[in-house]
Amino acid sequence: MKRIKVREALELEQAGEDVLVKGWVRTRRDSKTFSFLEVNDGSCLKNLQIIVDQGTPGYDQIHHTSTGASVWIKGRVVESQGKGQKWEVHASEFGLIGRADESFPLQKKGHSMEYLREIAHLRPRSNLFGAVFRVRSRLAYAVHNFFQEQGFCYIHTPIITASDCEGAGELFRVTTLDLENPPRREDRRIDETRDFFHRAAYLTVSGQLEAEVFACSLGDVYTFGPTFRAENSNTSRHAAEFWMIEPEMAFCDIHGDMDLAEQFVKFLIRDTLTHNPQDMDLFARFVDKGLMERLNFVLDKPFQRITYSDAIGILKESDRSFDYPVEFGANLQSEHERFLTEEYFKCPVTVRDYPESIKPFYMRRNDDGRTVAAMDVLVPGIGEIIGGSQREERPDVLMNNIRNAGLPEEEYWWYADLRKYGTVPHSGFGLGFERMLMFVTGMGNIRDVIPFARTPGHAGF
Ligand code: 4AD
Ligand code: MG
Repeated sequence: MKRIKVREALELEQAGEDVLVKGWVRTRRDSKTFSFLEVNDGSCLKNLQIIVDQGTPGYDQIHHTSTGASVWIKGRVVESQGKGQKWEVHASEFGLIGRADESFPLQKKGHSMEYLREIAHLRPRSNLFGAVFRVRSRLAYAVHNFFQEQGFCYIHTPIITASDCEGAGELFRVTTLDLENPPRREDRRIDETRDFFHRAAYLTVSGQLEAEVFACSLGDVYTFGPTFRAENSNTSRHAAEFWMIEPEMAFCDIHGDMDLAEQFVKFLIRDTLTHNPQDMDLFARFVDKGLMERLNFVLDKPFQRITYSDAIGILKESDRSFDYPVEFGANLQSEHERFLTEEYFKCPVTVRDYPESIKPFYMRRNDDGRTVAAMDVLVPGIGEIIGGSQREERPDVLMNNIRNAGLPEEEYWWYADLRKYGTVPHSGFGLGFERMLMFVTGMGNIRDVIPFARTPGHAGF
């Protein structure tokens, strides 16, 4: 007999089919002559109800079958007498695969999110986390669909790298040197030439520089992979390991870049609503009551576009007192971003033309001499979800930027070569995959949308 997933069983057109089902028991209720099991196999949010009559082969195992146990059932799909589901399975044979005793932590509902993080190996078996990770999977698929359908080429940029793309010094070092006793040069500094790569190497903070190489040859490209930042930010929106999607387009300016970012965010929302309606309904009911209204609103309206200078003006004129000062040249803090998107415009906002002094070396300098063609997309509830820019394609300006940023010029020779041979205007951005997932699901903490969160002090599992 062919095994059928719970999702497929629940979607059957008609009753009468004999099926084999495997999964984990959510609940068991006994009456005198039979038992009800709610079985979930992760294929969808809903459980399949199973009726096992006394006397069914395997029934003697029923009393050892409690919440968390794994089971198989052979039986017939019949119309359900109970409410809430169309079909149930009437067992003709029952088998207990793996017991779970009363110490199984997900017996009762109402565990705190903090506690569930401590059992990251079991939380995917809960309704909420099952839904989160099904949506995560679909969202990743939608990312590829979006770009592939528009002819973008998927590039696997390296995870180990020698350059600091963002220039923020938030790099994790990769080394095979003996930390107890590293080789030293005459001046006592560690001799990096004797490390694995014969030089210092790091985990990448962004695939952008390498993506630019491929944009300047294949045209439209994107990367989608893990990135790492050793920033000591203990917030609900920062992780030390997160996934980022980075499109990069040749012959594209900052305006084309903003257009693509907006289309992309809308596409991802629409796709999730279409393909994971049950999971989304769970978030709308139990996680964030305003979720559907917000997502539909985002789909309907164009994003508000303003310059950084406008943003500073709006923040200054507001009667809000912010913790961080608002001055031209200061970074927009999360409190500022959230004021703009949640309170002032009440919709996603794309801010562009940031001061040169607070942005990385690769952004294209604007004619005003003090701003760069940068753009950030801010969304309600989260703040920055996308950061991008038009890239500096003029070789002399770029080299100046690298020098002014205090970066080792010689390390960027290959990046500079793109400007030396057939340079083109080009642009791109990075979307934080987990931040997008938070936005789509309404989940409030980045630790709860990634299977195993890595944050300062935490790398368990
Ligand atoms: O703004 P960021 O630093 O931009 C870049 O890395 C560019 N190289 C992207 C590009 O132009 N190709 O990061 C991009 C996005 C942010 O907007 C945010 O959504 C996410 O990555 N992000 C993080 N997400 C989770 N945890 C962190 N520590 C993050 N840092 C950035
Ligand atoms: Mg940014």
